[in-house]
Amino acid sequence: MCGIVGYTGNRSMDSVLLVGLERLSYRGYDSSGIAIVSEGELSFWRKSGKLHELEEMLKDKTLTGTVGIAHTRWATHGKPNEINAHPHLSHNRKLAIVHNGIIENFHDLRMKLSRKGHIFRSGTDSEVIAHLVEEYLQDDLVTAVEKAVLDLEGAYAIAVIAESDPDKIVVCRSGSPLIIGVGKEENFIASDINAIINHTKDVVYLEDNDIGVVMKNDFYVKKTGGAKVSKEINHISWDPKAAEKNGYPHFMLKEIFEQPMVVRRIISKMISDDKVVLRNFKMSDSKLKKIKRFIIQACGTSWHAGLYGKYLLEKYARILTEVDISSEFRYRQMIMSGNEVVIALSQSGETADTLAGIREAKSRFFNVISFINAKNSTMDRESDDVIYSYAGQEVGVASTKNFTAQLISVYLFTIYLAILKGTISEEQERNMVAELKRLPEYMEQILSQSDEIIKIAEKYYLSKEFLFIGRSVNYPSALEGALKLKEISYIHATGYPAGELKHGPIALIDSRLPVVCIVPKSETYEKMITNIEEVKARKGKVIVIGTYGDEQVKKYADDIIYIPEVSEDLSPALAALPMQLLSYHIAMKLDCDVDQPRNLAKSVTVE
Ligand code: AGP
Repeated sequence: MCGIVGYTGNRSMDSVLLVGLERLSYRGYDSSGIAIVSEGELSFWRKSGKLHELEEMLKDKTLTGTVGIAHTRWATHGKPNEINAHPHLSHNRKLAIVHNGIIENFHDLRMKLSRKGHIFRSGTDSEVIAHLVEEYLQDDLVTAVEKAVLDLEGAYAIAVIAESDPDKIVVCRSGSPLIIGVGKEENFIASDINAIINHTKDVVYLEDNDIGVVMKNDFYVKKTGGAKVSKEINHISWDPKAAEKNGYPHFMLKEIFEQPMVVRRIISKMISDDKVVLRNFKMSDSKLKKIKRFIIQACGTSWHAGLYGKYLLEKYARILTEVDISSEFRYRQMIMSGNEVVIALSQSGETADTLAGIREAKSRFFNVISFINAKNSTMDRESDDVIYSYAGQEVGVASTKNFTAQLISVYLFTIYLAILKGTISEEQERNMVAELKRLPEYMEQILSQSDEIIKIAEKYYLSKEFLFIGRSVNYPSALEGALKLKEISYIHATGYPAGELKHGPIALIDSRLPVVCIVPKSETYEKMITNIEEVKARKGKVIVIGTYGDEQVKKYADDIIYIPEVSEDLSPALAALPMQLLSYHIAMKLDCDVDQPRNLAKSVTVE
């Protein structure tokens, strides 16, 4: 939700911290700031707006100091303006903090501290942390931070610097990610590895209630209120270059075009000799075989992939499957009859709502299997078993390649289970795997239609509303298509089960309303044609996503984007691409910030 980065070493602070903020800006970008201690004196700079505003402010400065921290914000409490930007300072302005998360008891703390004479300058929850640490700062900074966090309720990742301890950055986390980057005669702290991977690939992952004390030539970690703990230094293997745009105008477009490669990578990781394999899976086959019920919980695009999973798991593995949005999942009085498993899906592995769902499930002794893209994320570490998406780093806030990666991972997981349970034959497995192996080439065919899709975008980009409709496994596709459009173009869009149109939404249809209809050749085809006729009869504009060579549907379409013929089960993984490109090009026509849409963040680490 927000990005934190800190540095202690010999480089200039702005060279490390501003680049770090740039690489974290996908976590939030409505304001930013830096604080440093130089020759024992604290200085800070803050700007509302995108990061380039802060860079402009600092462009003629070279910030040298002993320690520095920086922050890019996604506003939770307090408007996205300069006074609410981080870093926040103590009352005496000799101590600064940056914070990612939400302090739920900040009102009480603020009242108590105000009665002690503290004057608050911002409308944020985070500022209370700076004043609280100051209140405890009698002896040393570490003890003061430790006492302060014991008063906090909520989620936080915090970094603190102070004039009293000019050689230390003190960090701690509870519920929001934070790492220590280990360098040579320099050390770093960050919300995630992206901020510092161009300086070091050696990182320490902090766990909840860890306090890290980071100095130029050393660091240590202790438990809040406890003793020092030894932490493993992990070496990151992936290449930071992968996080560049490689010539594309936006990360989102690059990631849309990476999807064929991602599917090939998944195939190489999850298929061996035409059979599905689960690598490093701890749960035994005998235990997997006994599963009687899945409860899937996820958010946003990942929830759409979860809805898709329900169709597959019930159809082929014959396992009862429920699907919940994570923020609602936790309010269920879950009934456990034995042999149930909770499945979480998450690209970032840090989504607070989904993480809370995992923790709730584990507190009730459910096994948790997570489908995750970000290795070493909190969910990666807290799940019983993990199936990776292998999508590579996804920087665009609107999820694209990870969505299709989730669909394929769930598809393969289903096949594995169905073979275990004997609900599909080995021949069926071979056929399903064989078709999947053709998917990358089918995706490339779709992506080659970009020019046609741009023409459709040019025709409809001024529409005030869109509907997306689909049936069966393409109902989640309709939801995903609508979400993609609304989150990057800010046009209101709704996805519906096509059969639901006549129960109300059809009242919306008139000559100004484009309806994207997902109509691959499948068991639901005839019914979809009926729904399209309903739309046409009310003068709605019909944009069809249909199968190459389908002359029948062409009669009803105002515009059509073709996908290669494929089984209904795999059609969502193909139908997603035209809708991603349509959304992208409509957003471009509207001059929207595609990679960093307003009000959004890539990883929503607050509940
Ligand atoms: C998807 O385009 C959105 N950015 C958002 O809905 C996202 O899918 C959701 O926040 C869940 O994120 P996760 O997959 O990282 O858990």
